[in-house]
Amino acid sequence: MVPNTTTVRPAEPHELVPEDYFGVLDLSRYFPREAPLEIDLGCGDGKFTLEMAEHYPERNFLAIERLLGRVRKVCRGAEKRGLENVRVLRLESLYTLEWLLPESCVDRLHLLCPDPWPKAKHHRRRLFQEPFLKSLVRVLKPGGEFLFKTDHPEYFEWSEEHLEAFDGLERLEWPEEEFFYPKTDFQLQWEAEGKSLQRLRSRKPVL
Ligand SMILES: C[S@@+](CC[C@H](N)C(=O)[O-])C[C@H]1O[C@@H](n2cnc3c(N)ncnc32)[C@H](O)[C@@H]1O
Repeated sequence: MVPNTTTVRPAEPHELVPEDYFGVLDLSRYFPREAPLEIDLGCGDGKFTLEMAEHYPERNFLAIERLLGRVRKVCRGAEKRGLENVRVLRLESLYTLEWLLPESCVDRLHLLCPDPWPKAKHHRRRLFQEPFLKSLVRVLKPGGEFLFKTDHPEYFEWSEEHLEAFDGLERLEWPEEEFFYPKTDFQLQWEAEGKSLQRLRSRKPVL
């Protein structure tokens, strides 16, 4: 008989480990109270999520990231700051939006400085395309918002074109200082290198 040597990694504090990766997530099991939900997709080291969660204690924040080291860092940051409104999910972004999250559960979804995949042969790996936009509309509440920033002008152009060709979201203005919006680690890094970021805000129409 082959011995069972499988070991399970213990969850970090504030980590959301789904009971079933193939079913729809029951968010009420993981957030202690019902509140507006914001998602930080590809949260990196989590500076944005942690500052937002501290600023808006009346909202819930779900940070999604595939790299374990980053997930751990965000979890420990949330623990250190005593943020009861933060959960961190280690999973692939598109899978989470397409399959794991319930329909119409998200008030705001943030996609900040995603990998731009600059080479033409890698463009198909870019997140910002139709399957992503469809899954975004699936999870956003009517009137829910999508906020996106990139340092990469060509990726921004690509994203605007995909958004324009897509029917399910309407574009909104995003004036500077419209609301509290901390800079991410990557934004600070790009700005230190003299790059500027472009941004886009849109929402799912209220029918
Ligand atoms: C360029 S970094 C930006 C991090 C953060 N948003 C910021 O602005 O500082 C992109 C992040 O997305 C994560 N990521 C990339 N593709 C992903 C995917 N398919 N699913 C989950 N996370 C992903 C990467 O591991 C990385 O931490």
